[in-house]
Amino acid sequence: MSDIFPVNGMDSVVFAVGNAKQAAHYYSSAFGMRLVAYRGPENGSRDEVAYVLTSGAARFEFRGAVRPGTEVARHVAEHGDGVIDLAIEVPDVDTAYAHALAQGARGLSEPQVLEDEHGKVVVAAIATYGETRHTLVDRSNYSGVYLPGYLPAEPLVAAPDVKNGRLFQAVDHCVGNVELGKMDEWVEFYKRVMGFTNMAEFIGDDIATEYSALMSKVVADGTRKVKFPLNEPAISKKKSQIDEYLEFYGGPGVQHIALATNDILGTVDRMREAGVDFLDTPASYYDDPELRKRIGEVRAPIEELKRRGILVDRDEDGYLLQIFTKPVQDRPTVFFELIERHGSLGFGKGNFKALFEAIEREQDLRGNL
Ligand SMILES: [Fe+2]
Repeated sequence: MSDIFPVNGMDSVVFAVGNAKQAAHYYSSAFGMRLVAYRGPENGSRDEVAYVLTSGAARFEFRGAVRPGTEVARHVAEHGDGVIDLAIEVPDVDTAYAHALAQGARGLSEPQVLEDEHGKVVVAAIATYGETRHTLVDRSNYSGVYLPGYLPAEPLVAAPDVKNGRLFQAVDHCVGNVELGKMDEWVEFYKRVMGFTNMAEFIGDDIATEYSALMSKVVADGTRKVKFPLNEPAISKKKSQIDEYLEFYGGPGVQHIALATNDILGTVDRMREAGVDFLDTPASYYDDPELRKRIGEVRAPIEELKRRGILVDRDEDGYLLQIFTKPVQDRPTVFFELIERHGSLGFGKGNFKALFEAIEREQDLRGNL
């Protein structure tokens, strides 16, 4: 079967934030990212500043308002800092956009060619859940640093003292939270509009805890480069972490971005030193004799994982190591995951119970459980 909606991979994750200048510093100093491009009033962007940072193949853009009454300012006032765009690189924007609209997607921006002395970029945008969008980008005829209108910029801090100077190498997956009963609708949207297919991982009642529950399904493109898990709250005795997100974000949106690292132990150590908070994992998670049976042999001693709170999961293809940060802005909304894969194509289903228990302790401290 030919791929009806071919994608090259994630292009960038775009955040609207209250203070892009400080966000650029945080993601430089704490996430080891490298500032590569900028636009602002100095080069013709009168209403907005934008800082573009990379770490390997991962690219984040942070946009902030420089005056009241702008779209970015409105978005931040409503949702707090959050993700406004999961941009996807495609080989042919016109075809992809036409296909998406024919399949019922809402168009936000018709295909247009952006041009400067470094070449051409074609972009278009479609709407997804909440106020989130997917910009479709073809940058195959462009040699500039990011997009026309952006200037090259120098790193803000020295690169982390690790191999290749990066704490992570790529975006692994991007997770959306949607309202109760809407998960399957959005799964169908990605199947219909982008030709994505379900990945095996499905999370239902079997991972509900006594207090909190969610349902989750994963859709991905044929090459598995773009992976979008979708969560909805599940009925439970107390407030689901998804309900908390929906309340504080003010609707559906991106819950977490998973960052692929090839040395999760070193990355966690450096991020902790720089002040990033990670979810605690109960000691009982590591002391449980079932864990050793479940995960088998992994590349680091369990004591080293326990010391850092790193979780382990195994499936028929291999295993993965993962850990979650606490929310990275004032609202209890967006957070990050670090993931080190060793064959496993999963998302840590076996860890959900342990993770929920950790998240719920935090939620309880905020009085929202
Ligand atoms: Fe994840």
